[in-house]
Amino acid sequence: MAASQGSSDTPVNIDALLQETRRFEPPLDFVANANVRDATVYQRAHDDPEGFWADAASRLDWFKPWDRVLEWNAPWAKWFVGGQLNASYNCVDRHTKTWRRNKAALIWEGEPGDTRVLTYRDLYREVNRFASVLLDLGVRRGDVVAFYMPMIPELAIGLLACARIGAPHTVIFGGFSAEALRDRINDSKATLCVTADGGWRRGNVIALKDVTDAAVAQCPSIEHVLVFQRLGPDVREVAMEEGRDIWLHEAAESTTRRVVEPEHMESEDPLYIMYTSGTTGKPKGQMHTTGGYLTGVSLTHEWIFDLKEDDVYWCTADIGWVTGHSYIVYGPLANGATVVMYEGAPDFPDKDRFWALVEKYGVSILYTAPTSIRTFMRWGPRYVEKRDLSSLRLLGTVGEPINPEAWIWYNEFIGGGRCPIVDTWWQTETGMIMISPLPGVVATKPGSATLPFPGVEADILDEAGQSVPTNAGGNLVIKRPWPAMSRTIWGDPERYAATYWKRYPGLYLTGDGARRDDEGYFWLLGRVDDVLNVSGHRIGTMEVESALVSHPAVAEAAVIGASDAVTGQAIIAFVTPRGGYTPNDALTAELKEHVVRSIGALARPKKIYYTAELPKTRSAKIMRRLLRDIAEGRVLGDTSTLLDPNVVAQIKDQYEGNEG
Ligand code: WTA
Repeated sequence: MAASQGSSDTPVNIDALLQETRRFEPPLDFVANANVRDATVYQRAHDDPEGFWADAASRLDWFKPWDRVLEWNAPWAKWFVGGQLNASYNCVDRHTKTWRRNKAALIWEGEPGDTRVLTYRDLYREVNRFASVLLDLGVRRGDVVAFYMPMIPELAIGLLACARIGAPHTVIFGGFSAEALRDRINDSKATLCVTADGGWRRGNVIALKDVTDAAVAQCPSIEHVLVFQRLGPDVREVAMEEGRDIWLHEAAESTTRRVVEPEHMESEDPLYIMYTSGTTGKPKGQMHTTGGYLTGVSLTHEWIFDLKEDDVYWCTADIGWVTGHSYIVYGPLANGATVVMYEGAPDFPDKDRFWALVEKYGVSILYTAPTSIRTFMRWGPRYVEKRDLSSLRLLGTVGEPINPEAWIWYNEFIGGGRCPIVDTWWQTETGMIMISPLPGVVATKPGSATLPFPGVEADILDEAGQSVPTNAGGNLVIKRPWPAMSRTIWGDPERYAATYWKRYPGLYLTGDGARRDDEGYFWLLGRVDDVLNVSGHRIGTMEVESALVSHPAVAEAAVIGASDAVTGQAIIAFVTPRGGYTPNDALTAELKEHVVRSIGALARPKKIYYTAELPKTRSAKIMRRLLRDIAEGRVLGDTSTLLDPNVVAQIKDQYEGNEG
């Protein structure tokens, strides 16, 4: 199976390949070379999970060893209790004490094509300087710092600088709107917001500073805004508010400390907060701590990606999401890896940009999302074929279940048929990859994330809490605490306990459905709650609904995710207008913009349908399942429990009338 098989004019027969390659045994030469040599590690971890994780923690440098590996008082976990360490020290300083000081830590490319390479020694210098600026601005251990940044080295540097002085960071993805940014800053009570005068995306300027200004005007906790100059005044002039706004380059120039000693953090001290969508309108700030988190991401990164000293590793996620935190910043840098970071879009200036980057930097490990792979499939293989991808040796995916067609295409056209694919299942809450093959050890099957990582115990339960039989669907749960788990929801421990630990007391409820095949392989079936997955971005239906009903024209709204060939799911809204408002194209456009304003472009509804009423049960619960059936063209099941069964027929007519 060579990549050359499928040129643009001879399309591959995916069906035939699916038959032929149902099961991929690890290539033998890969086994001989893999970091994890055999499957005994699973048994060892199962027999003595605490011993297993303690060994894993020894890969880090600790200022003070821990007294106890785990204190577990469900749902409250403490890992490596009594131990002290610093994440920035582990990701930077310790590498500068070895030959790695001259190894490339970050290879960065901006969208316009500008590049920067930072060795570990460079990173050390930059992190210290940034930390010194933070101290100058009065940031102290325990203060929260918000980041609203493009994908530039200063984002990674800034996070490590926060970790160095013990200030938890919270990164808000640059695609979020001013309102979304404001709400997250206010929930975290951040005192400093770090942003840039802008960033590049598809040749356009992203006006991050303007959005920040609009947000922080309503953030009483913010004392300063630190601004990185990415564009400069020739491209875009930004307003700087006297006394509040500071240019990073000026502050770095005038700061006097050359070295900022890393704080000795307790293992359980917070490292960061990451907001994620749930089933209510209010995003949840997942709190991750230091020792356990770093242990989990470092070990999984080395084993799952089979990291070698000379690898060039590229994760295409944005640092604004957990994937970027764990597998661009903390895992890879703790492991002393060379990390590629790219600022912009995959189709700028042309649709071969990713492959141009792989070719240019000799990327050997590539970690991306199924939605991207499907986009590349749609663009066609000719963008891939003109580039040399022979440096690649391992591929990964994350974000949603990968459909077997995309898996095969990835394997054929990107991997040239020779690269193992690791389909990694995890969540913002889990901090680290939880279900994934270990390359060279676990045979892969297209579409299955395969087996729980050693030390992770997963199960699939029915409503009564019993394990489901082979191939039956149920709720995916995790049965034992793991070191990188979220410890709480920032400021709301009750919600943490109720959301994740109440349904099956003492077990972690993932919110995902899954089944297990006759070999014990896990197949993820998508969310079972009201959380959407659009292009690998997590969005709560409730968030979009509350955005819609905050518009004066909307009386009521129900939002569902309908299957979409490229984005996985697409947002479809059903809206009941208020009296006096006539549904028309102008209103539809305005409502879509309204959602973009309140959340961000990532939540823009693909379609909006108007209905005089929404289908509700007699207890006034909106029947989203029915709406989903209508949207995906399925035969409707029993509608007798509805308050008014006629409503569905009306919506269905309208929906079908609107199609195309
Ligand atoms: C989904 C991203 C199937 C899942 C790291 C999960 C996946 C949610 C996979 C978490 C995968 C992620 N196979 N589904 N390999 N990876 N998911 O918090 O529904 O942004 O609950 O974390 O993405 O999304 P989050």
